[in-house]
Amino acid sequence: MTEAEEIFAKEPIPEAVREKMEECRRRGQEVPDEKLIKRPGHIAGIRKACAINTALLDEISRQIHDGMTTQEIDDLVVDFTHAHGAICAPYHFEGYPKSVCISINEEVCHGIPSRHRRLHDGDIVNVDVSTIYNGYYADASRMFMIGEVSEARRRLVEETKKCLEIGIQAAQPWATVGDIGAAIGRYAHSRGYSVVRELGGHGVGLAFHEDPFVAHIGKAHTGMVLVPGMVFTIEPMINAGKAAVVLDPYNEWTVSTRDGKDSAQWEHTILITEDGNESLTY
Ligand code: MF3
Ligand code: CO
Repeated sequence: MTEAEEIFAKEPIPEAVREKMEECRRRGQEVPDEKLIKRPGHIAGIRKACAINTALLDEISRQIHDGMTTQEIDDLVVDFTHAHGAICAPYHFEGYPKSVCISINEEVCHGIPSRHRRLHDGDIVNVDVSTIYNGYYADASRMFMIGEVSEARRRLVEETKKCLEIGIQAAQPWATVGDIGAAIGRYAHSRGYSVVRELGGHGVGLAFHEDPFVAHIGKAHTGMVLVPGMVFTIEPMINAGKAAVVLDPYNEWTVSTRDGKDSAQWEHTILITEDGNESLTY
């Protein structure tokens, strides 16, 4: 048995939570599988992975600069992660070739580091890092503004962060996944932005991508019920122009806006608690 399996066996779901899940099921709601309810032992492990992931993003924020290549950021991510006894989750994940995703301006996500790609004054850059420590996973991303950024870009970056915060506020115990997307979608549209539909947040902790899929657009009171102990990401991708995206036909990873307008993204790993939620990353 792995450590995580032992914890499932030794640390049951609290009786009150189990009863409430049953009640939701009887009402016809979609209820998570018990394997999606993390136990205190799992959460302790995920916290450690998240602490390293946060320290890594802090280190990137100290070092990122105009003229840096995205490969230099990848090198930094690998060195820092390994120095902390951890593993970069993206490396060779479903064939992904590098250890971090770096998405610039019109790139929505999954930008692949390259020694030929430099950051320039005025760029807005998402750096998405995911760390495995002792078998537990963390996932978070931040935006960085390089040098003097236009007012429109700064606004997109700040409003996208607000979208994440609004999504987190909606992620309350016994609410639903649809409540998160509904809140984010409403806010983004009120600001004149569009929301990427093809990609979303996801369960995380014992694997990189677990259920549920967390859409950043949607209908309130629909989808899976949020149960204390669930750990998942919220990571809205918000576009200045239209919502449509295209996949890079050469590398088959990098997603960009179809209209070439800017996109931004922020991501946290959050834990649903009995009385709210907690961001495990920062
Ligand atoms: N870090 C991304 C996420 O937020 C996933 C990247 S998959 C990879 O879910 F293979 F590109 F790393
Ligand atoms: Co993620």
